[in-house]
Amino acid sequence: MGKKFFLIGFMGAGKTTVGKYAARANGLTFLDLDKYLEMRLKTTIPDIFHQYGEEGFRKREREILHEVISLDDEDYLISTGGGTPCFFDNMPLMNKAGVTIYLDLSAGRLTDRLRHSKTKRPLITNLGGDLQVFVHKKLMERADFYSQAKVILPEERTGKKEVAELIKSILTNTTDQPAS
Ligand code: S3P
Repeated sequence: MGKKFFLIGFMGAGKTTVGKYAARANGLTFLDLDKYLEMRLKTTIPDIFHQYGEEGFRKREREILHEVISLDDEDYLISTGGGTPCFFDNMPLMNKAGVTIYLDLSAGRLTDRLRHSKTKRPLITNLGGDLQVFVHKKLMERADFYSQAKVILPEERTGKKEVAELIKSILTNTTDQPAS
């Protein structure tokens, strides 16, 4: 079975940007779960939410996760959606299939990053209340899932270079294993 790394974390944590860089730096194939889902279903995430609601989205997200996990042609770095680890048995599934890495950013930092990217994120598009309150609350709800990651990276270690180095060290196994 090919190697798999999963980047997990809240919306706005930088999973896609960091993932692309770290994948290229380590010769891994980069796969963005949301993009892959959009490609397979020939539609957009906001559209899936609109048509089938969050429940419908989660079912499809789960199916696509299973599909991606069964890919065995190459070594992959997969950026997941912010909610992927928090539904069904997705988290144990990813932990079984590879190395899960949690980008642990604070609610304040996430809120700043999310202020300008609401439209492609249905959970916050039409938020009535305060964004920071929402992020804080959701982050608390999701903490138990995120904390099951094999590697938990504090905010100051979530830069693309740091994550690329971490993956390199796991792949080569020559340096100390990171604390999880
Ligand atoms: C979601 C995060 C999104 C996307 C969907 C739901 C979530 O991915 O999967 O809008 O529940 O946190 P990003 O984390 O890439 O924004």
